[in-house]
Amino acid sequence: MVYLPGLLVLMLMVTAKGSIGPSNNSSFCTESKECLLFDVVCKTGEYEVRHYDPSRWVSTDAEAYFMGVGAAMAFRRLFKYISGANEEAVNIDMTAPVLVKIPEERNMWEPAVYTLSFLLPSEYQENPPKPTTEKLYFTDMPEMNVYVRSYGGWMLSLTSRLHSHLLTRALDRVRASYNSSYHYCLGYDSPMKLLDRHNEIWYVAEGEPVCSVPQHPASAS
Ligand SMILES: *[C@@H]1O[C@H](CO)[C@@H](O)[C@H](O)[C@H]1NC(C)=O
Ligand SMILES: *[C@@H]1O[C@H](CO)[C@@H](O)[C@H](O)[C@H]1NC(C)=O
Ligand SMILES: *[C@@H]1O[C@H](CO)[C@@H](O)[C@H](O)[C@H]1NC(C)=O
Repeated sequence: MVYLPGLLVLMLMVTAKGSIGPSNNSSFCTESKECLLFDVVCKTGEYEVRHYDPSRWVSTDAEAYFMGVGAAMAFRRLFKYISGANEEAVNIDMTAPVLVKIPEERNMWEPAVYTLSFLLPSEYQENPPKPTTEKLYFTDMPEMNVYVRSYGGWMLSLTSRLHSHLLTRALDRVRASYNSSYHYCLGYDSPMKLLDRHNEIWYVAEGEPVCSVPQHPASAS
């Protein structure tokens, strides 16, 4: 019974943080025990607006000419952390999604800085074990609304560029305000899953999110 108070504290912490919870089959978040939860604000044919509560992530930066190379290095570093390379030597459950912050403007001849983050499970949101390398740090994501476009296949590929382009085009068409200096790529699946993979592009909304797409008169298309 020695650990009961600790368990109670843990349960209180879990209920206090509403943003991370068990996955279920009704969503694309099927492989990990816990996922980042959200509310759908609205949906159009081209994007979805979601509201997220604050959440804490463990992050690392990678400087690279090619997103894939940078992400692979960063992924290994984060994976070591959750596999016990932390000051408490604890194993931490993998969650979904994995988040990559991608700067929008960059010169082809300079490496870009990508930031990769793993979502901390609810158990470790408040007090995550300290990393054993200074290359890892914690990121507190504020409460936010995001514009979301989903796509299949692999997260970091040429198609992700296409989808971020299609999303900004749709947002610009409805004059939505978003931070155009970066976007996020999110992956929900392990490399073991080959079919029905789910990925997303996010732009962070500024001000009131815009949900209405101009209605074109019915045409032959
Ligand atoms: C989720 O779906 C799979 C396949 O449809 C099924 O085998 C499994 O029992 C479901 N799990 C839950 C928790 O509903
Ligand atoms: C999925 O699980 C979450 C958290 O348990 C719950 O809030 C949500 O309603 C579930 N979704 C559906 C469609 O059952
Ligand atoms: C957009 O994001 C950048 C980088 O995070 C930040 O420096 C800037 O303040 C943001 N712009 C606005 C209008 O919030």
